[in-house]
Amino acid sequence: MLNKKLMTVVLTGCLLIGVPVYADAYDHEVTARGMSFSWAVDGDTLKGKMSAKTGGWVAVGFNPSNKMKDANIVIGYVKDGAGSIADHFGDKATGHSEDTDLGGTNDVTLVAASEENGMTTIEFTLPIASFDEYYGVLTADGDTVLLMSYGPDRDSFRPRHSYRGTKTVNLATGAEK
Ligand code: HEM
Repeated sequence: MLNKKLMTVVLTGCLLIGVPVYADAYDHEVTARGMSFSWAVDGDTLKGKMSAKTGGWVAVGFNPSNKMKDANIVIGYVKDGAGSIADHFGDKATGHSEDTDLGGTNDVTLVAASEENGMTTIEFTLPIASFDEYYGVLTADGDTVLLMSYGPDRDSFRPRHSYRGTKTVNLATGAEK
């Protein structure tokens, strides 16, 4: 009973001072050069937090067929303290477009964004089930090819990556191959 009251007070306090409630709610993490991706699978929702040493964009992608082709990509940046996030799809091996420009829907939700000490951090949620044909198949339990990438210090989705890498993970267990 006391614990429940305490939790309510803490959560209300967090909301009042603007601290994202998801902040430490991640079960798994992978790191790459200058970048980390933390996540938790909560029912049909993937809660993600991507962080990279850049003042520009940071992104993760899922299940490409070749380089960026067919990947479901979440990309974001922070400009003047405000986060921008977009749901992209790899429409070429060397290119991607916003789902909405391809006739699909935006399925990613921005939860929190910050840029501090040269690190850009974006938290988001994404439904695991597919909503449009530019989504790919995201399965929690099984192999997921995870793309991790960030751009140079420019607040735009256009400039090419300073870093890009690929890992194979199990989203449900966090196991990395
Ligand atoms: C924002 C604009 C972007 C541009 C202009 C761009 C452009 C390119 C180009 C030209 C290549 C082929 C040459 C190379 O290997 O470097 C490439 C490869 C790649 N890109 Fe991107 N990219 C962008 C964003 C992204 C994002 C957001 C991701 C992942 C979330 C990503 C992941 C990758 C990966 C994993 C490869 C290489 C794979 C391989 O060689 O197997 N890129 N990109």
